[in-house]
Amino acid sequence: MFPEHFLWGGAVAANQCEGAFDEDGKGISIQDVLPKGLKGERTKSPVQENLKLRGIDFYHRYKEDLKLMAEMGFKVFRTSIAWSRIFPRGDEKEPNKKGLEFYHSLFAECKKYGIEPLVTLSHYETPLYLAEKYDGWRSRKLIDFYKIYVKTVFEEYKNEVKYWLTFNEINSILESPFMSGAIVTPKEELTEEQLYQAAHHELTASAWAVKIGHEINEDFKIGCMILSVPVYPLTPNPDDILAAKELEHRNLMFADVHVRGTYPGYALQYFKEHGISLDIEESDREILKETVDFVSLSYYMSTCAAADSEKMRRGEGNILGGVPNPTLKSSEWGWQIDPKGLRYVLEMYWERYQKPLFVVENGLGARDHPIHKADGSLEIVDDYRIEYLRRHIEEVGQAIENGVKVMGYTVWGCIDLVSASTAQMSKRYGMIYVDRNDDGSGTLKRWKKKSFGWYQNVIAENGRNL
Ligand code: BG6
Repeated sequence: MFPEHFLWGGAVAANQCEGAFDEDGKGISIQDVLPKGLKGERTKSPVQENLKLRGIDFYHRYKEDLKLMAEMGFKVFRTSIAWSRIFPRGDEKEPNKKGLEFYHSLFAECKKYGIEPLVTLSHYETPLYLAEKYDGWRSRKLIDFYKIYVKTVFEEYKNEVKYWLTFNEINSILESPFMSGAIVTPKEELTEEQLYQAAHHELTASAWAVKIGHEINEDFKIGCMILSVPVYPLTPNPDDILAAKELEHRNLMFADVHVRGTYPGYALQYFKEHGISLDIEESDREILKETVDFVSLSYYMSTCAAADSEKMRRGEGNILGGVPNPTLKSSEWGWQIDPKGLRYVLEMYWERYQKPLFVVENGLGARDHPIHKADGSLEIVDDYRIEYLRRHIEEVGQAIENGVKVMGYTVWGCIDLVSASTAQMSKRYGMIYVDRNDDGSGTLKRWKKKSFGWYQNVIAENGRNL
C-alpha cells in the first residue's frame, strides 16, 4: 500500500529544540521573546522562563538524537534553519559563518545515516530585529531580506539538501500575525487588508524562493506548507455547507496561489466584498507564476462551521477557528482528534492540484507519565500515542490506495520539544522522551518510549503492519 521509497520520518523546528539561543553569533528571534507561546505576552528581551532558550539542547546533542532517529529507521528528517543563526538581525550583508557551519554538521550527520533532510526555511522564527524595525511581513522589505537569506542557504547547502519548504503553515499568518508573520502590531489593531497584504508579501517571497532555488539546483524539490484544517458543515443545512466552504477558502487560497500561480476568483471576490485592496505589483504577479513542486501540510484536527454566527462559538483548541465537532473526542489541549480528516484533506488536495503531497506534521500532544525503574532508567508506555499515529497512518494508506500521491509522512516532534502554542515541555509529541519539565528542571537525558519500537517496526515493514 505505501510506495517503495516512501519517506518515513519525523519533524522538528529549530526554535523548539535547538536551544543555544545566543550561541555562536545567533541573533534573537521572535520565539526568544515568547515565553508563553501564543497565549501570553511577548517580553522585551529573552527571559529565563522561556523554555525555548535552551529547548532540548539539540544544538549540542544532535548527534545523539540523529543516532536514535536512524535507529528508528528514519528516511527523512524535517527541521528548519533558524534564520537568525544565519543573519542575526536579518538585514546583514554577510552571513554568520558559525551558523552556516552548524547546519553543515547537522546535514552531514543526516547523510551518515542515509537520512534525507527536509528543510523549512522559515518556521515561526523570524529575526526579532525585522519584526521590530519593519513590523515583520507587513513590510515589502522583508521580501528582499528573505531572498538574500534563502539564496545564501540554497547556495551553501545545494549539495546537501534536496527537499525544501518555504514557510511553515503560511496560512496561519491570518490567525497568529506575530508568531507567523513577525507582525508586532497587536492583532486587534490590524485590519484584514493589512493582514492579507502581509500574506501577499509572504506568498511573493515564497514564489521567489522557488525561482531562486531552481536556478541554483534544478533538482531541488521545493514545496509550500499549509496548516490543514478541513472544515465540515455543522448541519446539512445548505447555508452551513456554504459557510464551511467559505471558511475553508481562507486556507485553500494559500495553496491555490502556490500551485496555480494566481489568486483564485473566490479570493478576489472576498477582497472586493470586504473592501480589501491589495498592493500587488506587476512583478509580483509574474513571480507568483513560479509554482511549487509539491504541497506539504500539517494536520492535527478538523473543525465545523455554521452560517448562524451565534453557533460559531470557537472551540478551545480550534487553532484556525470554527466550532468543535460534537462527534469527535479531543486531546487534553482541546485539539479534536479526527484521523479520517487527514484522508479527507489529502484526497481534496489531490483532486484539486494533482501535485505530490507530503504530510510533514501530524501527532498527538499528550502528557507522558514516566515510570522510574530501579536501575534509574525511565519507561514510558505511550499506547495513546501509538493509537493516534496508527489511526492516522491508516488513513494516509487509504488515501494512497485511492490514488493520491503521497511522498512521505513525518511525525511532529518525533523527539519531545517545546510546544509552539503553549511553550510547555509537558505537551509531548515524541517517540523519544526528553527529561525536561515545564519549570526547566530535568537531566535532558533521552529515553525511548514504547512508540519508538512501534514506529521502528512501521518503517521496517513500510506501513504494512500498523
Ligand atoms: C504546528 C507547528 O502548528 O503545530 C509546530 O508548525 C507546532 O511548530 C505544532 O509545534 C504542534 O503545536 P503545539 O502548539 O502543540 O506545539
